[in-house]
Amino acid sequence: MRNSIDNPLASIDEWDDELLKRYPSSDLSQVSDDTDRFRDYEREARPSVREFYALNHRYQTVDFVRQKRAEYLGLNRRKMGVWEAMEYLNQLVDDSDPDIDLPQIEHLLQTAEAIRADGRPDWFILAGLVHDLGKILCLWNEPQWAVVGDTFPVGCRYSERIVFYRMLEANPDWNNQEYQSQTGIYTSHCGLNNVMLSWGHDEYLFHVVKDYLPPPALAMIRYHSCYPIHRESAYQHLMNDEDHKAMQWVREFNQYDLYTKRDERMDVDALRPFYEELIAEYFPAQIRW
Ligand SMILES: [Fe+2]
Ligand SMILES: [Fe+2]
Repeated sequence: MRNSIDNPLASIDEWDDELLKRYPSSDLSQVSDDTDRFRDYEREARPSVREFYALNHRYQTVDFVRQKRAEYLGLNRRKMGVWEAMEYLNQLVDDSDPDIDLPQIEHLLQTAEAIRADGRPDWFILAGLVHDLGKILCLWNEPQWAVVGDTFPVGCRYSERIVFYRMLEANPDWNNQEYQSQTGIYTSHCGLNNVMLSWGHDEYLFHVVKDYLPPPALAMIRYHSCYPIHRESAYQHLMNDEDHKAMQWVREFNQYDLYTKRDERMDVDALRPFYEELIAEYFPAQIRW
């Protein structure tokens, strides 16, 4: 399954690492309109990363997204608790370097611990703890390009602020008139809730947890990979007032997701009681996946 034609990255974490190259500073004011830096990043990207985006951009069609939503959003795969899902995700082993790449559970704990250290509310900490659990899609043999990668709206004109925008020319939707008007199959300011994003771990997990967490936590989970919107401010014409407020939260969350990586190792056993208690405040013992 890994390092095959379908899975060019050594590990799915390689995508997250790439984000740090594209967005080395957490200072949001430095990012907007810096197109040169953005295109420099594309030129310098490694072949495996280019190949990853080529697959993602080619195959994330409206039809593909509809098919995956139908396949997964019934949540009929299994029942498990949140901590159990963290351990399940931790089984994800790939060709990454164990000296460099953290176990998945540690990225979740690092994110949550950084949020906790800043005295943020419980639900914010919990959003950090669970935000990448959707990556269990990899354990069900979904290819890397259908689990991670920047997400973007499908069914309307692609924004040039999507990384490797030109690669979208290989997507059959590129030539579909209906999908290439400014609003495509949507209406102006219809709200992101009515917009289909490319399929991946964000949308899947949003549906798993949507009955249990407050709206800002759900926005963080659902949109944290949508860099074209939360970092590049594209697709304003689809957004409503609620989305703009939600994006503030997503941006705050992104600081913890991106910039806490590899700071320090986590003592999983020592942290477990605190987090089991926090999980129990919001979630039943088992939820549907
Ligand atoms: Fe993620
Ligand atoms: Fe993450």
